[in-house]
This record gives sequence, C-alpha cells and structure tokens, in this order.
Amino acid sequence: MKDFDTTRGPATARLRLPELDRRAFVAALGGATAVAAMSSEAKADALEQHLNDSLAASGKHYPTVAELDAQVSTRSYRRGVGKLFAGQTGNVTQLAPMPEAPKLMDFMRLRMTDPLNHCLQSANLARKNGLDDELVLACLLHDLPLALMRTQHGFWSAQLFEPYVSERTTFAIRHHATLRFYPDEKAGYEYPDLYREMFGEDYVPPPYVQAEYEWVRKHKWYDLARAVTVNDLYSFDPGVKVELGDFEDLVGRQFRQPKEGLGFDNSPVAHMWRSLMDPDCPL
Ligand SMILES: [Fe+2]
Ligand SMILES: [Fe+2]
Repeated sequence: MKDFDTTRGPATARLRLPELDRRAFVAALGGATAVAAMSSEAKADALEQHLNDSLAASGKHYPTVAELDAQVSTRSYRRGVGKLFAGQTGNVTQLAPMPEAPKLMDFMRLRMTDPLNHCLQSANLARKNGLDDELVLACLLHDLPLALMRTQHGFWSAQLFEPYVSERTTFAIRHHATLRFYPDEKAGYEYPDLYREMFGEDYVPPPYVQAEYEWVRKHKWYDLARAVTVNDLYSFDPGVKVELGDFEDLVGRQFRQPKEGLGFDNSPVAHMWRSLMDPDCPL
C-alpha cells in the first residue's frame, strides 16, 4: 500500500490515509486484488480523486492560496517541474533506452508514463462522446507534456506537438489549460474541486490568463478547446482499462511522425523531445 503514500500532485495527495479510510478506499476500487492489478500511476490518480471526493463530502475547507504558498519551501522540488524530472514519490527510476528513431508511441510508453493513463482515459471518453479524430487526438495528447513541464502546460503541450498535428488540434491543446479555470454550464463543464485543492479556494487566475480566456471565448474554435476540458477525465472508473494500442490507428492517421524520429528532425521543438529522451543528461 505504500503507493498510496504519495507526494505526487496536489496537497491532498500528500496526505497519508488513515487505516479506516484506506480500507474504504481499497473496497471502493474493487478490493485488494483489483488494486494489485492497477499501475502505480492509476493508483495515484484514484487516490487523488478519492481524497478530493472525501474532502468535498466532509465539508472541509480547501487550502487558501497563502497556505499553499507557505508550503513552497517544504519541498525539494517546485510544483511546476515536469513529472519525469523530479521524484515526487521518492527517487526517480532508471529509464529504458529509446529506439533510434523514436515515435510518439515510444515516448508515451517510455517517457510520458505518469500523465499517460489520464490522457488515455480522456481520449477514450472523447471517442465515446463521438468527437472527431482531431479532437480525440487533442484529448490523447493534451497533458502528456506534464512529463516535461507542469507550469504553463497548455502552451508547452501545444508547442511540443504543433509541427506534427493539425491547427485545430494544436488550438484545442493550447487553450484547454486556461478554460479549465472557467465553468461553462451549457457545455457541461464545472469548475473542478481538484483546482480548489491545487490552486487554493481563493485563487484568481492572473490577468494574462483572464485575457486569454476572453480572447478564446470569442474565437470561432472556442468549442474545440472547451471539448478537451469537458473530456478531461480525472474521476475515471478504475475498472475501465484503456490501452495505448487502442489509439495506434488514430495516431497513424493524425500525427505526422518524422522519419528521422522525434528529436532528430531539426524541427524547432526537436530539443524538447531530446530532453524527454535523456532527462538525466546534466547539461
Ligand atoms: Fe491539462
Ligand atoms: Fe487533463
């Protein structure tokens, strides 16, 4: 059960569950056998959701911005660092080597493993909801660059994929992060409790985020970015298993894989792929 004693993610996820709560949590996931079959990433995601739900049910208060700010110097890493680069649950691990001409799927399998399940679940939901290929791809890719950088992730994400995907996909990815702060009742998107926990209950997005929202809100492609937020699934059913292979055809159709391999195509973002490839390189 030590996987549940995680320091990953928002403040709640750093809490150790009391014994009774732990039993209820394991039962809710289908028992110890079902839990044993889950990846540590799926466990961490489930824990995040469970703590979120418990907090809401208990009527407890979310942290304030000042309380979260006071935690900064209690960590050995900054919250905005990429998940591949900082051990948020202890030490980092040895990485498997990459193929010589790595493809998107290789990066997803070998380097973007932490945000992967969340992205697969979101893409699966988007597909079930009948979204078109460009938007299912946007959902599949939208948070993968959290492995590289968490802060400003909509922009890092859009930049990393821009040379290889359509303009519609890039737009949806770039702006989903800002739209996450703004409810849209008509679209069925509420402000997430997870954000109250992560950013503080009294958090107000800074002026540049507000300006981006105002601009995107009036854009003809607003619905594209909004669709990513609507399908941005954290409270997934742990019984539903989504495989990377389920999206192989989609990626083949929609993602322009360079023949030299990502990182070696001299694109303006090749260094970003190489950074993911070799995060232990000291300079
Ligand atoms: Fe995101
Ligand atoms: Fe997401």
